[in-house]
Amino acid sequence: MKKEWWKEAVVYQIYPRSFNDSDGDGIGDLPGIREKVDYLDYLGIDLVWLNPVYDSPNDDNGYDVRNYRKIMDEFGEMRDWEQLLDELHRRNIRLVMDFVPNHTSDEHRWFRQSRESKETPYRDYYFWRKGNGEEPPNNWESIFGGSAWEFDDPTSEYYLHLFSRKQPDLNWDNPEVRQELYEIMNWWMEKGIDGFRLDVVNFISKDPDLPDDPEKGPYGSRGSKYYVDGPNVHRYFQEMNREVFADRDAVAIGETPLVSTEDGVKYVDPSRNELDMIFQFDHVTFDLNEGGFWAQPRDWKLTELKEILNRWRKLTSKTGGWNATYLSNHDQPRMVTRFGNDGEFRRESAKALAMLLLTISGTPFIYQGEELGMTNYPFSDISELRDVQTIQQFNEMKQKGKVESFDEVKEEVRFWSRDNARTPMQWSSEENAGFTDGDSWINVNPNKDQINVEREKEDENSVLQFYRKLISLRNEHEVLVYGSYKPFLKSDEEIFAFRRKSSKEATTTMLNFSAEKKDLTIPDELTGTESELLLSNYPTRDSELSDVISFRPYEARLYKWQ
Ligand code: GLC
Repeated sequence: MKKEWWKEAVVYQIYPRSFNDSDGDGIGDLPGIREKVDYLDYLGIDLVWLNPVYDSPNDDNGYDVRNYRKIMDEFGEMRDWEQLLDELHRRNIRLVMDFVPNHTSDEHRWFRQSRESKETPYRDYYFWRKGNGEEPPNNWESIFGGSAWEFDDPTSEYYLHLFSRKQPDLNWDNPEVRQELYEIMNWWMEKGIDGFRLDVVNFISKDPDLPDDPEKGPYGSRGSKYYVDGPNVHRYFQEMNREVFADRDAVAIGETPLVSTEDGVKYVDPSRNELDMIFQFDHVTFDLNEGGFWAQPRDWKLTELKEILNRWRKLTSKTGGWNATYLSNHDQPRMVTRFGNDGEFRRESAKALAMLLLTISGTPFIYQGEELGMTNYPFSDISELRDVQTIQQFNEMKQKGKVESFDEVKEEVRFWSRDNARTPMQWSSEENAGFTDGDSWINVNPNKDQINVEREKEDENSVLQFYRKLISLRNEHEVLVYGSYKPFLKSDEEIFAFRRKSSKEATTTMLNFSAEKKDLTIPDELTGTESELLLSNYPTRDSELSDVISFRPYEARLYKWQ
């Protein structure tokens, strides 16, 4: 296994809008992040992934970029960004920028020119088509609801937008578009960044015929089979690699929703020179019911979750590929609410999930607030929501008469809405959790008095301290980075267990994923000589691995042995 800094890194994801506000306008900003660099250092992380900070009208919180070379006013200026980069680098923390290559804002210069006339050279930067009679060019649906096509008056044609109507899709089949994007990426690289997280990057190549889709896709929208892992995607990744990454020690992390295992494995196969790692989506879509985000999640079994995480590891290891591991981010429910227990066993289950994240193979991505055990938010009115996806889909259902009031979908929103992950970082029990002195752009979770950095810094049994221990254990034990990965007890519905092994040492991770007690006979291959308990989320006297262990609810243990 080739050694790389990004394989050894523990990543921390910052959603700038909700991290820390320095100027009291209620919106997090770059100087606000700079104030917290010491905290990042204290946590022990090595790499920051910053969600988009480019100039944007914020229809989708920065994923609608108006100018890729300018910082969003609300977040500060280029100088603030440069100072942040310096501060991070001074502490040996690297920085990965979020790059949005699939679409721009409709306010981007290219799109403004593109919509003016059919003759402009910018026309072909986007997808413009004539309607099908009175209907849009095809039946694709936006992932945020409604048709994926918007009629535009000036030229009486439609443009394609897989996300909101303010996010027109770029036409990657046009070589000029690709060159423009590589230039921007190189421009940022030259400023000294350490890589990119590439937004919905496996959507960039569309089937050129743009055919109707007879079926609804996994998010309930039509069209995905004609743009997910599309026809030229591998070619474009290889070209991007040559143009941007080849001569640099920088990392390419692909966000690849709905990626197939077949294509996903190719994306990260080092011999193909495409991407370094990807965020696969199987474990964040497997609990969707047919009603998607507007139905309760379906009941799932632990064996299903294990199968997904194990399958990706098995497949990528065949070619020396690598995994990006995450259990939550700015688009997903809070991990402890989704996979754990945000009631009685919040602390225990948040720690168990942390142990899974930081000891399984792959690079772990921690999403801000996860290290505190932050939970979903108890929304009770649509006016509390900010996410374009939730608001747009709710309005559409209302228009169609499918729902009358927010109460009917309250539970679903409380589970799925992306805003659950976007409530402000909880720094203290002060007003607004210490996030801002002004009026926060989105409500602060009412549990801020129990769950916050200040409190967890002082409590040696807090979730925060558990993360710090796990991060330092990962740094001390190379086996947790480069060791082989082998799952055990694959058909057990309560216990998630695996072994990491190198020529020098081995570790065993065992997690009880249930709120019940469970006695477990330890398989021989999970123990050896000189075993030692490295970490547990309960007080325990079993410092060595014994034959039978009685696990308490959400109990998690990490052992090392020879
Ligand atoms: C990605 C981002 C998400 C955004 C979408 C469109 O999935 O993570 O937040 O809305 O792309 O850019």
